[in-house]
Amino acid sequence: MVSKLTVRDFRCFSNLEIEFHPESTCIVGRNASGKTSLLEAVAVLTRLQSPRTNSLVQLVRLGAKGLVTDGFVSDYHLQFYYSKSRRKLALDAVEQKNADSYLGIARVVYFANSDIDLIRGAGEARRRFLDFVCSQLFKNYREVLRSYEKALYSRNRCLKMMPTRPREVAAYSKPLLQFGHQLMALRAFLLERLEPYVVEAFAAVSDRNETATLRYRPGATADFEKALRDSAEEESRLRMTVVGPHRDDFQLFLYSQPADLFASEGQQRTAAIAIKLAQAKILELEFKKPPLLLLDDVFGELDLVRRNRLFSALPSRGQRLVTATHLSWLESSPAGKVYCIKEDPLGERVLETMS
Ligand SMILES: Nc1ncnc2c1ncn2[C@@H]1O[C@H](COP(=O)(O)OP(=O)(O)O)[C@@H](O)[C@H]1O
Ligand SMILES: [Mg+2]
Repeated sequence: MVSKLTVRDFRCFSNLEIEFHPESTCIVGRNASGKTSLLEAVAVLTRLQSPRTNSLVQLVRLGAKGLVTDGFVSDYHLQFYYSKSRRKLALDAVEQKNADSYLGIARVVYFANSDIDLIRGAGEARRRFLDFVCSQLFKNYREVLRSYEKALYSRNRCLKMMPTRPREVAAYSKPLLQFGHQLMALRAFLLERLEPYVVEAFAAVSDRNETATLRYRPGATADFEKALRDSAEEESRLRMTVVGPHRDDFQLFLYSQPADLFASEGQQRTAAIAIKLAQAKILELEFKKPPLLLLDDVFGELDLVRRNRLFSALPSRGQRLVTATHLSWLESSPAGKVYCIKEDPLGERVLETMS
């Protein structure tokens, strides 16, 4: 799927080029060598989104103006330029006014150690996950999310003004409600679809048949309009919109108990992996081909049994890019290509081919 990637001024890389194996590429490197950044660059190239932050500004190399990701995915040439003031997309060298065709090319699942945040971290990590998956699954999601965020931003600005301007606030309530309803409906639908596959994946990875439920915790009650009206007093006190999908969350239950409070760390990790495997499953079913799998430093952290289970639970077809600090945990030498990221004496990251 992804055959080649060039990045410029992306995180710690000033300039790097890498060719991927059609099935499996391993990238080995010490801490802070740039392994996560490299997988992040693949996510940005294909999805225009980072699975680890909401703001692309952080991805621009310190001191540089803008970043470039440029690569070949399923024989399409994807190019993306981003700076604080400008973003530019091209598909097969033709500049794209909107991202629809560009984003239609690849689907991605990103596994990381930080996935445990899906179970016990702050709500922001779970909202980012919902956005990352929903924007791959539903064509209009990005636009709805943008419109919601715009309405929320403007409405909050009005709420902060002195003296208050209730009519302006009310004017922004309309798009807030409209797009908010749509967002909540799509997110609820996603969680409903994920749930049976989470149960299945959890059983596959843990060898235990636990009943898992994913419970959507919307940031507003079903009657969003009423919730917004009822929150008026709190709003005027805090001077911001306090209900709505920007406060959405979800919670995983194992044996009918909230996993963030009752499950062991091992179970929480397994549950987080199960959510990602479920994501891979529904993307594969929807698009009739397995998504690209980015596995960031996950295998080395798992015990042998769970590592093997995870390996066998991954979609067997499809391409995977794997990072690790070392490969000594592997029983046999890895299939495909192996690279090592090193720093040269000037601090530039360079790739060495190992096999
Ligand atoms: N915007 C940025 N500009 C320059 N360096 C950055 C930027 N963001 C992160 N880094 C640096 O990139 C390095 C690689 O980070 P990371 O990819 O997380 O490493 P790894 O996953 O190999 O541990 C770190 O030293 C980090 O401080
Ligand atoms: Mg890392």
